[in-house]
Amino acid sequence: MDNKLKHVAVPSSEITSESAYFSRRDWLKTMGIASAATLLAACAPRGTGIGSGTTVSPTPGIPIPDSAPGGVSDELGDPANRFEEITNYNNYYEFTTDKEGVARLSEGFQTSPWSVEVGGLVHNPKTYAVEDLLRFEQKERVYRLRCVEAWSMVIPWQGFELGDLLQEVEPMSSAEYVAFTTLYDPGQYPGQSGPFYPWPYTEGLRLDEAYHRLTLVATGLYGQPLPNQNGAPLRLVVPWKYGFKSIKAIVKIELTEQRPETLWNTIAPGEYGFYSNVNPGVDHPRWSQASERRIGELNRRATLMFNGYSEEVASLYTGMDLSVDY
Ligand code: MTE
Repeated sequence: MDNKLKHVAVPSSEITSESAYFSRRDWLKTMGIASAATLLAACAPRGTGIGSGTTVSPTPGIPIPDSAPGGVSDELGDPANRFEEITNYNNYYEFTTDKEGVARLSEGFQTSPWSVEVGGLVHNPKTYAVEDLLRFEQKERVYRLRCVEAWSMVIPWQGFELGDLLQEVEPMSSAEYVAFTTLYDPGQYPGQSGPFYPWPYTEGLRLDEAYHRLTLVATGLYGQPLPNQNGAPLRLVVPWKYGFKSIKAIVKIELTEQRPETLWNTIAPGEYGFYSNVNPGVDHPRWSQASERRIGELNRRATLMFNGYSEEVASLYTGMDLSVDY
């Protein structure tokens, strides 16, 4: 088979045991136990206004989880952030740079019909309707998300491994990278009418990073279909990299020989490297990356190398100087 699977080191252990991921049924069962109102006042970080009245449109028939039910936690024992936090504090510049404004502005975003074109250096290029992609085995993963801006959350995602999709389209031996593109539609995305960014949003991974089993294409969170503000209908999640690598609302995936250009790296290569692995030892030129503010907590906590996923991913970068290839 003419693809790169053979080059990929499959980690020997699951990052999170099945029991730590929790099943969807468990989430639904435990949702709503704690009172959102009491937790909101106690947990909202200063200045975020989370819980100050913004609400998320529910999916009919699926209850909104109004708190992190005791028990949903990552493999380090850190509790998942509340649904309200995850869905009301967002980075999605196509809508607005105001994190608390994304939920409202994205309410009417059209996610159906939606298709994703997968092509470039592959033997079986194909355009997938998003429903087609749901046939890949859906997994539940509780991952830390560490934004380059030095805040973080713990998010219980559903989705499928990008490797499953890549395997199906069969990358050619010349393929070295995977490029991702967000929808371009200034009619729906007010931010795309502005002159400051080279839209559409683009991102990229090396092929072995893309094949890594932690690399997820998320289709939902907390047992709900993916909310618009989190990148519906599907977005990338690469938990050991800064959050901006986790591109939302993907319409195109292309296998390439050359390293693809990416939005943030194009604008400010000195600030946002192509790799952007979470690294407390390499500061952003304008702020420290040694610590972070977990949304919902008062004190800062130390940032972990590769966001705590070293055991699984460090071998991808053997021999590289991560202060140069940041
Ligand atoms: N994808 C697109 N298309 N547009 C964006 O502005 N922001 C990125 C990433 N993906 C962004 C994007 C950044 S900076 C972060 S931290 C995460 O999405 C935030 O994801 P969340 O809003 O689900 O927490």
